This record gives sequence, structure tokens and C-alpha cells, in this order.
Amino acid sequence: MNLYKYVSDAINEKLGFVAKLDVPRNREFGDFATNAAMVNAKILGKNPRELAGEIANSLRELDFVADTSIAGPGFINIKIKDEFLFNALSAAPEPMAQKTEIIDMDYGAYNVAKSLHIGHLRTSIVGDTLNRIARALGHKTISYNHIGDWGRSMGLIIAWIERIHPEWPFFSPDFDPARDYSEYAMPVSELDTYYPSAAALAKTDDAFMDRARLITAELQRGHPGYLALYNVFMPISLAAMDEIINKLNMLPFDNNLGERNAARYEEPVEKMLIDMGLIEHSDGAEVIVVKKDTDNAPMPPIMFHNSRGATTYDATDIMALYYRKITDNPDRIIYLTDSRQKLHFQQLFRVAELTGLFPADRLEHIGYGTINGTDGKPFKTRDGNAAGLADIMQMVNDAVRTRVAESGKDLNDETIDAIALAALKFNDLVHDLRSDYIFDPTSVTSFEGRTGPYILYTAVRISKVLNRAGTSAQNVQFMKLGADERNLIMEILDFDRTLRSAFDNRATDMIANYAYDLCQLINTFYHNCPILRDDVDENTRAMRLNIANAAYTVLARAIDLMGLKIPSQM
Ligand code: ARG
Repeated sequence: MNLYKYVSDAINEKLGFVAKLDVPRNREFGDFATNAAMVNAKILGKNPRELAGEIANSLRELDFVADTSIAGPGFINIKIKDEFLFNALSAAPEPMAQKTEIIDMDYGAYNVAKSLHIGHLRTSIVGDTLNRIARALGHKTISYNHIGDWGRSMGLIIAWIERIHPEWPFFSPDFDPARDYSEYAMPVSELDTYYPSAAALAKTDDAFMDRARLITAELQRGHPGYLALYNVFMPISLAAMDEIINKLNMLPFDNNLGERNAARYEEPVEKMLIDMGLIEHSDGAEVIVVKKDTDNAPMPPIMFHNSRGATTYDATDIMALYYRKITDNPDRIIYLTDSRQKLHFQQLFRVAELTGLFPADRLEHIGYGTINGTDGKPFKTRDGNAAGLADIMQMVNDAVRTRVAESGKDLNDETIDAIALAALKFNDLVHDLRSDYIFDPTSVTSFEGRTGPYILYTAVRISKVLNRAGTSAQNVQFMKLGADERNLIMEILDFDRTLRSAFDNRATDMIANYAYDLCQLINTFYHNCPILRDDVDENTRAMRLNIANAAYTVLARAIDLMGLKIPSQM
């Protein structure tokens, strides 16, 4: 049950006007509070304290209200009956979002032949959780791994391969497109070296850069040799991405349609832009002016074709908007990238508005902060390179292994992997997404504090109790609740509200922090409220088992939304 909503709806109905409910941090005086008397006193021509008294009396008539009290100039505190709270634990969950939408979720967005690095961590982890939350609320989401598979980097990679294997058939004038070229497949570790080498060379060697540019343009126009080579390395790269997606326990993407797919719509999009008079020529390039008179900050035009006639990243995003419009026709599109792409998306959303493809308020860009090392600078490996995602996962895995060995526990590999995954992902989710954070592989693996392992440990602990108790008790007679039981129940009944706010605020940290608060209350309950001990009477045991069961259910849901796995032991 969404306790907040239930109480709020009942109160509004009783009063005949909307009383906004607050959830006080300290529940000593009440579970909920409202300033409705102060807000409405003027309109009703009454003194706030007097009105508060009337409201408080009337609310006391609601069957779930235990008591009300008035504080300060007219705040009303509302205390809920214990028995009502206890029974609410077994109430069915309700459909959640008031209005469900079709949402295109654009995250991940990896690049072909560039191995995933630390910069892809947040778009992957947060994007996946946001997707899971949206689905839990009943939205229909379509997740896009908008792959960078068609730009200049493709030309650079092919130019590099041409340099190291000039004898390969792809570069020969009598190339045979009908043949099978799978024998040219290279190991991904080798493929990954091509782009960095090519990019470095292109910086100093103009002829090589020109060659890469030409190859890019020819590939985009359908050069059979380049296309065949592209089709050799593309699946290798996709398989490597899938491996990481799998390791990160992300939901599979609904599609991997990225820049290349979007580029298929170049013709209709260009025609649309020309027909609308939106294309302007500037130094040989085609641009769209997106500045408004009301702008205070500079707003450069967005590039559609550069002066060499190549399709730009900006342009492929316009085409992708067009593609999504004519296929999914979503109510909303959410993009999740590094905050440095802010301007790109501002420009893009203006094009959407100018062309009428989407109203600007239906397009959202969430820009996330940087992951720094303990030195406060962007996280690097020991040799000074941007850390690869696979290396980072290994680092966390090693840290967990060391910790487990030190504690003398004996855990299998599957469990170590689950703990490492939780350490990495929870740490990412728990931080405010829009800010930078410091990543320290050692501290994130601690079994205590605001960490993934602590969350899993709590889940395993409570599931052990439930397993030992066997089938859950029937005939529970409500007696009374102690403070630790009551606090835990209040938190359990706050899950649905948290889920909604996490989505409404696009704030995945709310789920992570909720899970942490819940775990703390579970552990306090575990210590202070024995369940299976011999001296606990049967009814108390049954009540506590009910609470433990509900707590586990909600914790498991939160853990699932974060894409973590609960190990069988810990
Ligand atoms: N591949 C891009 C990058 O790595 C991110 C793409 C984000 N999505 C989009 N539709 N532009 O920077």
C-alpha cells in the first residue's frame, strides 16, 4: 500500500479541500503533518489555530487515525493507528503512475570498437535503474542503446586497418562483395587498440586524417569493401558490449539502433528541414539556427552537414528523433549522458520544437557528473589511462575477495561477483546523479555503512530467518507494536511513494537511500525483536514474521530495481 497516498486521499475527501501532507523526519508527534489550517485560514476567514482545532477534530473521526494534535501557529500532527499499519502490510500493491506513458529511454549509447570506460558507468547503471523504475510504475519504455556506429571513428578504424593490412581484399579495386569474410575477424582486444592508435596518428598526420575522412564519407555512401569490413568488426564489438551489459546485470536493450539506423532517414529529414526553410548555409556547411531572441547565453547553430558534406553527430540525433516519431511515437524521450553534452541536447530539443517533431517539454536530457579518483581528478588507472569498465569491475572484485579472505569467510565465486556488482552499482546509484563523486574501490566494498554489500548482507540475514521459520504463520491476532516494529512498518509502507518520487524527480539515489534506511530499520528490528527464540510467544512470533516478510519483499524489490542480485549466503 502507498500509505501516504491512502492517508492523503482520505483526508482530502473528509475535509473537502486539499491538505498537503508532510512526512516529518521525527515521528514523535505524528506520522504525518499538515499546514492546511494556515494555508486555508485566510480564504475561510478564520483564525489559523481555531481552524486547526476544527480540522484536527474532524480528522480524528477517520477510522485509521489514532490521534491528532496541534503545534505552533496551526500545524496539525496526525498519528495513525498501529493496527491499521500492521494490517496495511498485507494490502495488495496498487497500480502506480496516474497516467502511464510510452517512453523512449536513450542510455548506454556505446561506441563501436571503443571499449567501455568509466564514463559509461553511470549512463548504464542509472539508465537501467530508471528504466526498471518506469516499468514498475506501469510505463511502457523502449530502451535504446543509441550506438555510435557511423561517424568519423568508423573511418579512422578502417583507415588504420588499411594501414596495417593493406593486402586485405576490402581495399582492392576488384573486391568481391559476394564472398564470406568472417575469417578476417580479429580478437576484440586487438580491435580495441585500433581507434586509439588511429586517433593519435590523425592528430599529427594530416594525410592520414584526410584518408579517414574520405573513408568515412565513402562508407556512408555504401562503399562495398569498407562496408564488408565494417560488417566484420561490428558484431565483434556488439558481442563485447553484450558481455558487459550481462556482467552489469542490466536489462537487455530493446534495440541497438544508433547513428547508422538514424542516417537511413537523411533524405526525408533533409527534405523536411529544407521545406520548412530551416537550413541555412554557412561557410560551406548546412546549419540550423536555433537561437531565440530571449536567449541570454550563446546558442550556436546546430550543424547538419559539415563543409565536407559528412553527416554529423548532431544530424544523426535529429534523424533519430524523426525515426522515433514515425515508429514508437513516444510521449517522452529521456536521454542520459555526461553533462558535457548539455548544449548538444539544448540545440537538438530546439530543432524538435522548430520542426514540430516533439514539444520541447517532452524531451529530457539528464546530464550526469564525473567519477573522480580519491585525488579529486577524473578516475584513472595506475598507468594514467581512463579506466576501462572491465578493469573497474575487476578492481572491485579483487577488493571484495581481499575483504572476504581477511574476514575468514568462505564464499563462492558467484557470491563474490554478486557482492562486487552490488558494491559498484549501489555506490553509483546512491550519489546524486547530477554531481561528481569520488570512487574508491576499497570503501565501496565495506560490509558496513551506505554500501551495496551492507544492503545484500541485510537481505540475506532476513531471508535466513524467514527460511528457518518455514511457512508463514496464519491466524495472526494483532496485539501491539513496539517502536522498532512500528518504525520498520512505516518505512515499508513508504516504498510506493518513494518509487514515484524517484521517478518524478529522475533521482535514482532515492531508491538507493531508501534501501539503506530500510536496512538500518531491519537490522534494529532484528536485534531488538527476537522472532524464533524460545521465549517468544506464538502470536508475537507470527506478527514479527509478517513484518519480516513484508520487509524482505520490499527490500527485494528495491534490490531488483537497482539491478543487484541477492546471493544465497554471505
Ligand atoms: N555515443 C555517444 C557518446 O558516447 C552518446 C550518445 C547519446 N545518445 C544520443 N542520442 N545522442 O558520447
